[in-house]
Amino acid sequence: MQPYLLSLDQGTTSTRAIIFNLQGQPLARAQRELKQYFPADGWVEHDAEEIAEASLAVCREALQQSGITAQQIAAIGITNQRETTVIWDRKTGKPIHRAIVWQDRRTADSCLKLKNKGHEVRVQQKTGLLLDPYFSASKIAWLLDNVAGARARAERGELAFGTIDSWLIWQLTGGKKHATDATNAARTLIFNIHNQQWDEELLSLFHIPASLLPEVLDSASDFGQTLTKHFGAPIQIGGVAGDQQAALIGQACFKEGMVKSTYGTGCFMVMNTGDEAISSTHRLLTTVGYRLNGKVTYALEGSIFVAGAAVQWLRDGIQLIKQAGDTEAIAEETMDSRGVYLVPAFTGLGAPYWDPHARGAIFGLTRDTGIGEIVIAGLEAVCFQTRDLMEAMKKDGAGKLQTLRVDGGMAVNNWLMQALSDIVGCRVARPTVTETTALGAAWLAGLYVGKFASLDAITELWHCQREFSPKMALDKREQMYTGWLDAVQRVTYKTV
Ligand code: G3P
Repeated sequence: MQPYLLSLDQGTTSTRAIIFNLQGQPLARAQRELKQYFPADGWVEHDAEEIAEASLAVCREALQQSGITAQQIAAIGITNQRETTVIWDRKTGKPIHRAIVWQDRRTADSCLKLKNKGHEVRVQQKTGLLLDPYFSASKIAWLLDNVAGARARAERGELAFGTIDSWLIWQLTGGKKHATDATNAARTLIFNIHNQQWDEELLSLFHIPASLLPEVLDSASDFGQTLTKHFGAPIQIGGVAGDQQAALIGQACFKEGMVKSTYGTGCFMVMNTGDEAISSTHRLLTTVGYRLNGKVTYALEGSIFVAGAAVQWLRDGIQLIKQAGDTEAIAEETMDSRGVYLVPAFTGLGAPYWDPHARGAIFGLTRDTGIGEIVIAGLEAVCFQTRDLMEAMKKDGAGKLQTLRVDGGMAVNNWLMQALSDIVGCRVARPTVTETTALGAAWLAGLYVGKFASLDAITELWHCQREFSPKMALDKREQMYTGWLDAVQRVTYKTV
């Protein structure tokens, strides 16, 4: 009997392992924070070896804590921070440099050059993405051009590239498998999401030798077995997906039009668009939601860089609050932002604005503005940004959104979830298990080893813990949103 699934969730700030039973209930968890390196302005790096060690450690700890043995684990699912780029030596398994993290902006100029030469249209057609340093391609090129001897070694076939999933698969299988899944490949800017192939034209645009690349598999697939020495017995790696896509799966958004929004440091809203790769004309990303049995389900994605990070700033930056959790009580007591808007463009604005030069601001201050109003403005900014994404999705042809499924740390804040429902104007549903990213990876692993017959079986395991419905009058909602749009206009680069 193998009644458990082990999920490894390698995120930007921490590495976590969770053991689930086949009903999707979490039984044990272990977590390690990840050291962040900021070697220059706008640069963000991770130590890939630390990531590999922490991944092993949290898996072992979760197993130990629960008393569950490796033999009782049906399969491992891996989910990961996406786009972050590692290049390593195929012989030694050692990285040639620290991993370049998705947030890293060092390749902004090289991307801009390509954009100015008119390449963005073609890149977007093939990959669904924009010519932005966020994605892996320009990071790979940077490593090849800046690590001594790397390009020659790559051309001789001595090096391997991977996003964090590939790196972990390689480490866990002792180099037996160099693979990724279609959701992670879809974030590299060199993968054609329509024919599901690495794209020669894009490889040559970014000067990346094909010999570096991993094999692209379905999200539920044979990603190899872990070495016996890691957990005492080999475990099948059966599921892999980028973290936002894993959350889509963990939220059981398997029907066209279903949408999930994950509120962590940033916010990622992803809509299942079924068989159709909707090409966004409003600067959303088209991506792979999941690929099962060779069949691709596409998604539209909006990425907001600052959600929970605004609350962190209220706590650590200007110290208006002691703990993030205090915002709920403060907001309940204050009730209304009274015309105060906080635009948290600390690192520019993501979708749909994509303005790296915008900076944050607070508007509408009066003599009676207090901490409460500013806190509410910080929370409402999350709602307004979600509304921005929803409006962009609508303009891209998505129908009216009925229900938004939410997860992530901020989803526990009831005041915020009600405000979200009011401002977005749709129902907001919070599931019983909010660890949806880890859960999604576990579902994929379970699917591969036959623990679930189909996605329908997984759908039945999704349960709503609480639903929030819009209560705000329509004119107030629209008036507030108009105020937000006006505030955003004032921080964008063009108008400064
Ligand atoms: O695209 C970046 C995203 O995958 C990062 O997610 O949760 O690790 O911050 P997270």
